[in-house]
Amino acid sequence: MTELTRRAMIGSAAGVGIATALAGCSKKSDTSSSSGSTASTAPTTGAASPAPGGAAALAKTSDIPVGGGKILTADKIVITQPTAGQIKAFTAVCTHQGCVVGTIENGLIKCPCHGSEYKIADGSVAKGPAPAPLAAIPVTVSNGEITKA
Ligand code: FES
Repeated sequence: MTELTRRAMIGSAAGVGIATALAGCSKKSDTSSSSGSTASTAPTTGAASPAPGGAAALAKTSDIPVGGGKILTADKIVITQPTAGQIKAFTAVCTHQGCVVGTIENGLIKCPCHGSEYKIADGSVAKGPAPAPLAAIPVTVSNGEITKA
C-alpha cells in the first residue's frame, strides 16, 4: 500500500509540474482551465521560471534612454526608444556573421565585429556589411515594464 501511495504522489507531483510548465507557456491563451486543477501553487523549481500568467520583464522603460537603447546581451535583444514613449525591440544578433551588437550611439546600433550599423527606429541597415535589418521582436509595455509579446 505504501508503494502505491508513493507512486500516486510521484505521479501527482509530475502532473503538477507539467501543469505548471504548460501554464507558463500559454500566457496568450485566455481559456479558463483552472476548474479542478491542482496546480494552484507557484513553481518551486527555481528563479528561471517566469511568473505564472506572464513572462519575466526584459527591462523597465526607465532603463531605456530616449534616442538610444539598451543591449540585453544574455537575451540577445536590443531594446530602443527612438522617441519618448516609443519602445522597439530587435534581435541583437548581427545579420552579417552573427556577432551580438555591442554599442548604441547617435541613434545607431553598432556591431563590433565588422562595423555594421543599424537604425534604432526600425533596425534597418545604416552601414554595411550587414545584408539585412535586425529582425523586430514584438514586445509589450505595461506599468513601465517591457516584456516579450
Ligand atoms: S558580424 Fe556584425 S558586422 Fe560582421
